[in-house]
Amino acid sequence: MHPSVVSDLLRQSRLACSNAYAPYSGFHVGAAALFDGSGHIFAGSNVENKSYGLTICAERSAIFAGVSAGLRRLSHVAVSCRDKQGNLIAGKPCGACLQVINEFGTRDTKIILADGRSMFLCEFLPHPFGI
Ligand code: THU
Repeated sequence: MHPSVVSDLLRQSRLACSNAYAPYSGFHVGAAALFDGSGHIFAGSNVENKSYGLTICAERSAIFAGVSAGLRRLSHVAVSCRDKQGNLIAGKPCGACLQVINEFGTRDTKIILADGRSMFLCEFLPHPFGI
């Protein structure tokens, strides 16, 4: 993948991070997803709720936006987080989001962290649930 695509994904994830709705945790997360068959980058933020369990993570917001647009093959996901102090953190996707990445991705789907490191889904989730 061209390096400028990786920087575009990281930029979009940071922008989405600034749109996070996180009044309860104070932890702001943004994600950007790229699918095969489209150059469009889908962004998403974490959106919390008074009923905490209804919270949706940024990664799933971004992925579901792409899937809702008709795309199915997820190639890249970038994630950026800011803590309560506004520090940029190289947060990693939670287990639920990894299983959703697995649903639409492959073992080689790339996960790009805010510090620029990138890893394959199979490194984060070597044994996904599957039937
Ligand atoms: N969060 C994400 O957006 N993505 C993850 O992969 C893990 C956690 C959000 C959920 C919640 O709003 C906040 O981070 C603290 O858990």
